[in-house]
Amino acid sequence: MPTALTPTLPGRAYTDPEIFAAEQQRIFSHEWMYVVRADELATKGSAVRRQVGQDNVIVVRDRSGGLRAFLNVCRHRGARLCLTDTAEFGNAIRCPYHAWTYGLDGRLITAPNWSSMPDLDKNRYGLEPVAVDEWAGLVFVNVSEAPQPLRTQLEPQLTYRFGGRPERADRWDIGNLVVGARKTYEVKANWKIIQENFQECYHCGTIHPELVEAVPSFADFDELGGGDYFTDGYGFAEGQDAFSITGEARHPLLPGLHDEDHRKYFGMVLRPNCFVSLLPDHVIVHRFEPVSADTTVVECDWLFHPSVATAPGFDPDDTVEIFHRINQQDFAASEWCQPNMTSRLYRNGGALVPLEATIIGNWYYSWYRGLME
Ligand code: FES
Ligand SMILES: [Fe+2]
Repeated sequence: MPTALTPTLPGRAYTDPEIFAAEQQRIFSHEWMYVVRADELATKGSAVRRQVGQDNVIVVRDRSGGLRAFLNVCRHRGARLCLTDTAEFGNAIRCPYHAWTYGLDGRLITAPNWSSMPDLDKNRYGLEPVAVDEWAGLVFVNVSEAPQPLRTQLEPQLTYRFGGRPERADRWDIGNLVVGARKTYEVKANWKIIQENFQECYHCGTIHPELVEAVPSFADFDELGGGDYFTDGYGFAEGQDAFSITGEARHPLLPGLHDEDHRKYFGMVLRPNCFVSLLPDHVIVHRFEPVSADTTVVECDWLFHPSVATAPGFDPDDTVEIFHRINQQDFAASEWCQPNMTSRLYRNGGALVPLEATIIGNWYYSWYRGLME
């Protein structure tokens, strides 16, 4: 374990629009990005629109129940086809401008005054497909031309987090959970500041009173040691029966868990734009949407077993409140840092203490630098 301070990224990595543009190209347009939950695209023609790197993308449920993704660009004169964040296309995607009409599989079906263009080769003017895949009910897209398999991106991260047992995450059966609550936050901070914060416990004792009461290890520097993940989870405090603001167990345990998974918290940043927290009776998934160098939208979902979330009188507030407070505390701290990233004092970056150096300085930065340099 290092004993000295090590540098963070330089200040401009968090503020410079040119670096943000390079990240769009080399990270967001190169990696698989988490864009939507599969169950939000419930029926044929349901769609969402997302910005992915420098591309605007439509993800849609097709006629056979599969998922498709396309660049949100009409092949005629380039209009955006989908003008809202969510849409119901029905059977076809119709351009709002001159009404070229595409099937849910992206094929050009028809265009006004079609008979006057006998030489128009329909096969050449379909929508541009984008790679789409699913893990644990989370839909990812990859706009690069030759994407690696999604599993290749996720597996090493799960392996690292779970100490060589990536399959342990399957026990939460995230794909079969449903959203019981959602909150969206606009954070005036660079996406990496938010993720760095989510990857260190050095701040927990200072800003998260509710969290460290529930999970005391987060404030115990002896236990935290070199700051690497507790691959077997962070245990709850005595008397804390659930990860909730009252600590009372109000929901049944998720059915796939083993004894060793109970009364514990597992959290991880799933790069590039996801944060997953696994708890005994629910799961929390954060989706990060980097908007610009200094703005990130964070969508946070609290997932429950369907038998819980659809039961009469279901009330998620007790569960939601604790991480909602943690979110607010973390995002406030991120916003304390962001404006100072342009300070001359931060030109060469700040410092990571040894506790922060393992996951941020080593694990996270080597990934980031590997893609950026
Ligand atoms: S731009 Fe889409 S039909 Fe003309
Ligand atoms: Fe935090």
